[in-house]
Amino acid sequence: MSKDTDAWRSRFVLPANQVYLDGNSLGALPKGVMERVQQVIAVEWGTDLIQSWNKHGWIDLPARVGAKIARLIGAMPQEVVAADSTSLNLFKVLLAALKLQPERKVIVSEIGNFPTDLYIAEGINQLLGGEYELRFIESNQLAAAIDESVAVVMLTQVDYRTGALLDMQAITALARSVGALTIWDLSHSAGVIPLSLSAWGVDFAIGCGYKFLCGGPGAPAFLYVAERHHLSAQPALSGWMGHAEPFAFVPNYTPSQDIRRLTVGTPNVIALSALDTALEVFAGIEMADIRAHSLVLTTRFIELMQPLAQTHDLTLVTPLAAHQRGSQVSYASQHGYPMMRAIIEAGVVGDFRAPDIMRFGFAALYLSLADIDEAVRRIALVLERGIWREERFAGRNAVT
Ligand SMILES: Cc1ncc(COP(=O)(O)O)c(C=O)c1O
Repeated sequence: MSKDTDAWRSRFVLPANQVYLDGNSLGALPKGVMERVQQVIAVEWGTDLIQSWNKHGWIDLPARVGAKIARLIGAMPQEVVAADSTSLNLFKVLLAALKLQPERKVIVSEIGNFPTDLYIAEGINQLLGGEYELRFIESNQLAAAIDESVAVVMLTQVDYRTGALLDMQAITALARSVGALTIWDLSHSAGVIPLSLSAWGVDFAIGCGYKFLCGGPGAPAFLYVAERHHLSAQPALSGWMGHAEPFAFVPNYTPSQDIRRLTVGTPNVIALSALDTALEVFAGIEMADIRAHSLVLTTRFIELMQPLAQTHDLTLVTPLAAHQRGSQVSYASQHGYPMMRAIIEAGVVGDFRAPDIMRFGFAALYLSLADIDEAVRRIALVLERGIWREERFAGRNAVT
């Protein structure tokens, strides 16, 4: 590990004797978050109470946190806001995008997209009378599926199961060439892949705050709207926080003139404060350096795992070509669930996604090459001794 990455890692509280390879599900705890939350509760809430909306800038938290995320995804500060959940943000931006081109009636997505994205599109289609074609296809059919009938191309850049990375710049350019709008789900990209949303002409984006952004369980999500849509994107969830003058208390809705029109209700101050401090782990670090370290980690993991994968019938489903993968490595195995449970018990924490995928996520800010070596050493013990065959690893937990 170089000097720099040691410094990155020192910004986190990490559990002892564990290699945590699930930062793609829930990021580790950044130092300072506990103290910030304590301060918000004890002082801002406990003492200053309602005055804190002004005195401690609670009201501006969605925009302030959004601006920090904007730097990580190549957007302008005023193009991003932190609020609600990823699912809810997708609902908001998908409806707004469809309303921008009502004559087009096709939504394109990948059949393997994260299910909430597909479910939200299905629900919106029902809400709009079922008049849309939901063109959910394999990723190798995307180019053929994106034509002049398409209203919105809605994709997740990094596949949550395989870790395969879509060429966001090229697909966005293709969509633009036929007049389709793009919505990118950056849940597995933000904080680990360098992005240039504004420069690439992306229309809308959304993503989780609790994965590589390390905002904590259920952290607020973010949404990005290109500035050119700020006055035309119609908020379907027309709540008072999206109003031009929330504190005028007038009976009729007039949307704010900026991205706040896609916010809805009172911000979740404690969770936003945690995310705000968590994002300090990125201070002074370039996304290109994070990406470079991430690829060193995933490449080493794949190489070291190769003989084990061969012997124990694990199929690498993540692309071997570095530029085609995000920051996770996944293997398919019919015994994936008990294997992963046994591996977790051995102190290497990954997770499992149905039907048969073992996922290992690599948060480059807090993992070293020594971690990779140790992880593979422990995985080898579990596989070679057949520990995963023990009865107690067979049953399923509620959360896999
Ligand atoms: C790609 C992707 N999109 C959306 C979600 C769901 O986000 P939320 O449950 O915060 O709405 C997830 C959750 O893991 C995800 O991986």
